[in-house]
Amino acid sequence: MRQALGIDSLIGVYARLAQRYDWQHRLLTAAADQRGRALLVEAAVRAGDRVLDCGAGTGSTGLMAARKVGARGKVTLFDLSDDMLDVARDKAETEGLDERLEFRTGDMVQLPFADASFDVVLSTYSLCPLYDPARGALELYRVARPGGKIGCAHSAAPAHAFTRWLADRVEDIAWRLPWLSMGCRAVEVLPALEQAGGQVLFVKRIGVPLWPFVVFVVEKPAARA
Ligand SMILES: C[S@@+](CC[C@H](N)C(=O)[O-])C[C@H]1O[C@@H](n2cnc3c(N)ncnc32)[C@H](O)[C@@H]1O
Repeated sequence: MRQALGIDSLIGVYARLAQRYDWQHRLLTAAADQRGRALLVEAAVRAGDRVLDCGAGTGSTGLMAARKVGARGKVTLFDLSDDMLDVARDKAETEGLDERLEFRTGDMVQLPFADASFDVVLSTYSLCPLYDPARGALELYRVARPGGKIGCAHSAAPAHAFTRWLADRVEDIAWRLPWLSMGCRAVEVLPALEQAGGQVLFVKRIGVPLWPFVVFVVEKPAARA
């Protein structure tokens, strides 16, 4: 796995990207990004849930979840970048969803939340730039309640050897331009979650051949009486 950008570099990259992030990400992923978000929210979020959207960025997933949780629910948008969260705040205000939302800044590899704080924990495309994706995924698991769900979408290596080779060459170029790569690379976190006891509810591969995504929902087993 490619070495991650440092935290300060990531903050700088996303500060410059924030205003154009939504359309740039949509264009580069041929709109598969939105499909991944919709699959997760549809499968994992219910009315009244307390949801954490980790690495929430400009809030595309968190706002979708906020529509679904309704007035009784609550969604926390957590991200390293204040600039990305500012865009999310503006979008929430325009939609009148701000009452259901809370915004927090910090590092998702060391979440400032107690164990079992949320019904649902989501991460869309935010494990890819992490310096320790497996530890980040285990943090998502820690803060989900027993019986709760963890839904993730992240970049994955292409399945076929030639496409994988080609994707690596494209990534070599993109990584010289962090505003283009966004610090994202293919990661693998599902084995860590399964080892922690997570039960896989579904796994899907979506996206374009050169930039596929894995989308999955894991349930944290309910505590025994
Ligand atoms: C590719 S964007 C994904 C944003 C959003 N979840 C989406 O669906 O478009 C990656 C996000 O992860 C955030 N991020 C990167 N490293 C982080 C960390 N250590 N802790 C919290 N957020 C982080 C970035 O600031 C950025 O907003």
